[in-house]
Amino acid sequence: MIQGVATAAALLQVSGLRFGWKGEKAALLQIDNLTIQPGESVFIHGPSGCGKSSLLGLLGGVLLPQAGSIQLAGADLTRLPARQRERARVDHTGFIFQQFNLIPYLGVLANVLLPCQFSSRRAARASASDGSPQRAAQRLLTAVGLDSDAHRRPVTSLSVGQQQRVAAARALIGSPELVLADEPTSALDADTQEIFLRLLFDECRRANSALLFVSHDQRLAGQFQRRIDLPALNRPAPAEGVSP
Ligand SMILES: Nc1ncnc2c1ncn2[C@@H]1O[C@H](COP(=O)(O)OP(=O)(O)O)[C@@H](O)[C@H]1O
Ligand SMILES: [Mg+2]
Repeated sequence: MIQGVATAAALLQVSGLRFGWKGEKAALLQIDNLTIQPGESVFIHGPSGCGKSSLLGLLGGVLLPQAGSIQLAGADLTRLPARQRERARVDHTGFIFQQFNLIPYLGVLANVLLPCQFSSRRAARASASDGSPQRAAQRLLTAVGLDSDAHRRPVTSLSVGQQQRVAAARALIGSPELVLADEPTSALDADTQEIFLRLLFDECRRANSALLFVSHDQRLAGQFQRRIDLPALNRPAPAEGVSP
């Protein structure tokens, strides 16, 4: 029973997960259990190619595993039909992709507002926190250090560091319960990195969002409540009935 209560309270509950890219014989990821609580900040690290980005894709409902369940905010992403999975994804997660994935033909403000266009829940939460999605977008962009001139510019005219901040504002708008950040500080210098991290922490704390932050830069790890070494977590389950 106690376990049942704990499960109900978790934001994210992964069990028996197995994932491999198509055409690959061996599974890339085998994770028995991973639980993320609301509001937790978690640093995920491991060498290049160990599956960090793939894991975030699975947790954010972008990829589907071959086996196992991924419970996010009470629903199993692996069992939802595609449209409902897409809805759960936009309603509950904000994703800062390694390559930002900004929409080049939209301006800065329109890029940040996108999640509120796809999710009425995100729009309602942005209105509750800031008065309107528009105001939430402006506040977040200012908080990440983009002045109002920059809000009106095409995203393609921004520097890499500025684009990364737009991607962060887009992930944070409407306070999703889970913020997934894939090496978001890799293109920033040390000072800007620090400012960027502060912003992520402040916004996640403000909204009680959990933050899953992937990086190979171990110097950042100390600022997080929990650290996950992906190669250590990623182990095949022992075969049933085999005694040690
Ligand atoms: N779209 C893809 N199609 C096929 N294989 C992929 C794809 N993306 C990543 N991989 C492979 O999966 C493995 C893990 O990649 P990735 O999850 O990006 O690791 P990390 O983020 O830790 O560097 C690598 O061997 C990579 O080549
Ligand atoms: Mg990666």
